[in-house]
Amino acid sequence: SASHARSNGALAAQEAEADTREKCVILFGTQTGTAERFAKSLRAQLESKYGGSTAFEVLDIEQYDFASQLPKEKLVFLLMATYGDGDPTDSATEFWTWLSEAAESGAQEDLLQGVTFGVFGLGNRQYEHFCAMGKKVSNAMKSLGATELLRRGEGDDDRDIDEDFDKWCAELFPALDSSSLVQQAEGPTDVMSAAFLAAYDVEEVPDAPPLQVDRLPPSGTGLNSHSPFLATVTTVRELHAGGDRSCVHVELDISGCKATYEAGDHVAVFAENSDAVVAAAAAALGLPLDFCFRLSLPSPNKHSLPEPAVAGSLTLRCALARYADLLSAPNKAALLALAACAKDAGEAKRLQRLASVEGKDDYHAYVVGPKRSLLEVMQDFPSAKPSLGAFFGSIAPHLQPRYYSISSAPQLHPKAVHITCAVVREKMPTGRVHEGVASCWLARLREGDRVPCFLRHSTFKLPRDPATPVVMVGPGTGLAPFRGKKLGAGHLFFGCRNRKHDFIYEDELEAAVAQGAITQLHAAFSRDQVQKEYVQHHMEAHANEVWSILCDSAGGYLYVCGDAKNMAKDVHRALHAIAVKATGCSDSKAEELVKRLSDSGRYHKDVW
Ligand code: 2AM
Repeated sequence: SASHARSNGALAAQEAEADTREKCVILFGTQTGTAERFAKSLRAQLESKYGGSTAFEVLDIEQYDFASQLPKEKLVFLLMATYGDGDPTDSATEFWTWLSEAAESGAQEDLLQGVTFGVFGLGNRQYEHFCAMGKKVSNAMKSLGATELLRRGEGDDDRDIDEDFDKWCAELFPALDSSSLVQQAEGPTDVMSAAFLAAYDVEEVPDAPPLQVDRLPPSGTGLNSHSPFLATVTTVRELHAGGDRSCVHVELDISGCKATYEAGDHVAVFAENSDAVVAAAAAALGLPLDFCFRLSLPSPNKHSLPEPAVAGSLTLRCALARYADLLSAPNKAALLALAACAKDAGEAKRLQRLASVEGKDDYHAYVVGPKRSLLEVMQDFPSAKPSLGAFFGSIAPHLQPRYYSISSAPQLHPKAVHITCAVVREKMPTGRVHEGVASCWLARLREGDRVPCFLRHSTFKLPRDPATPVVMVGPGTGLAPFRGKKLGAGHLFFGCRNRKHDFIYEDELEAAVAQGAITQLHAAFSRDQVQKEYVQHHMEAHANEVWSILCDSAGGYLYVCGDAKNMAKDVHRALHAIAVKATGCSDSKAEELVKRLSDSGRYHKDVW
């Protein structure tokens, strides 16, 4: 284990005395970790090409003093994810407020005059506002006088976002070469490995007092990811009655949490990998589970510690359980890093090939198609045993908190949040049974367990006045936010496979109808008959009632929650048909009516 205990102090020192180099900052605004992963990969690539003349720094945009620093930068890269309805990520909200206000004021056209920048936007084409943040940031920067180095990149998470990013990088290097902003290092450069191995300093802690390690951090405010609150589990119960799938109802006591919620808000939980996955990963790394160590980032990147912060020493068991995303597919930068530490030349070559531009098809056939996890890949390449510094710093992405729509009503349960979670267990093409990290962890919880979590406000807000009529569409766990509705006039469209197995909260919903709390409950059972029956079919069958709520004169609201890939799109399409059917208008008029509904803020989606 001596190699794992090696400190990268020499590299840190080198960076510390390199202050005379030009600086380039790589900023990321991430919600699920992808933009952060790309930022680090970009840094590694830039550093290996231009490290002689320029020092590249990766920073979470939240940690960046944009108002005073951005106008002084020469070269900046921004990797910006889009969240929700074309919104910034939580971490980029302040930055975007500042930038957009500066751009809109019109009085600071030369604020960013000396700045050259590149933007890579991240998004998902399943959503209407694809890569909106990337676009908006790029435009605002330009209107403030900054120069865009190259075509703005767009990554589509619905397809191969890594490939989109690689393409953008392939355009970025020539653009930089022909600028005078950086100088190419002379001679061949060691692609990635040096920079990667420097990602973390690792110090072995052989005699750590056992009680000091692996404790959950003390309970925080619960207001954001940096300060998780330790909630206590009070209930875990299965919602399905038979059938081969599972959906759990979890209740968390949040007494003492500083955050409050309204119907439609989200709770984020920090889940842990299962014991079996953790043990397999430790074996793949060739270290015992109780190996105790400390990680710290060499300066100047002190800021980008994972959340909740890895502070003090911890066992490998704990580090793997809490901080490493082991079950997602490895990206190309991770494969390159594994290649750099493979002892077997054949393995190194194969890994390099998988990560290369020419090996694109191999990557698809080996990683993307069969949905191979990082863990499986490490098991396939046993000679690639990275140091813990490389593993936690560069290869395994940080395990991210998972967001759930809160399914409790704040008026009834101000000191609790309920989660309604479909448990992900599916067979992969390799034969592996993939167990969703967060959902299976939630399902394993027992009364009294502690759950690090925080609450997140959303724009998915039901009208304050319960008398405002609403149409709610929530098949499956999309039902969650509507459980929290202050009851009043409204039609609820719910869908599931069978009345018998997965009609979740059936008794509760029927009680709500009986009390007159919901005007009508429409349940579509897709597999109780030969012909598929979906929520949108029931909506179309009740076109007049639906439109009598959504038309301009009624001023009612539409809420759609659940699957983004198919359901939300089909419901959107059905709306046109409903408008035509109810008003007898033309197709183009229907289009206009639906657009107006959306533009006037009366059509909300919470889809994933
Ligand atoms: P299915 O699985 O039988 O196709 C909750 O997941 C419910 O949503 C299920 O009954 C599922 O039906 C249904 N569903 C699947 N695709 C849908 C779509 N495009 N629109 C609406 N509902 C859909």
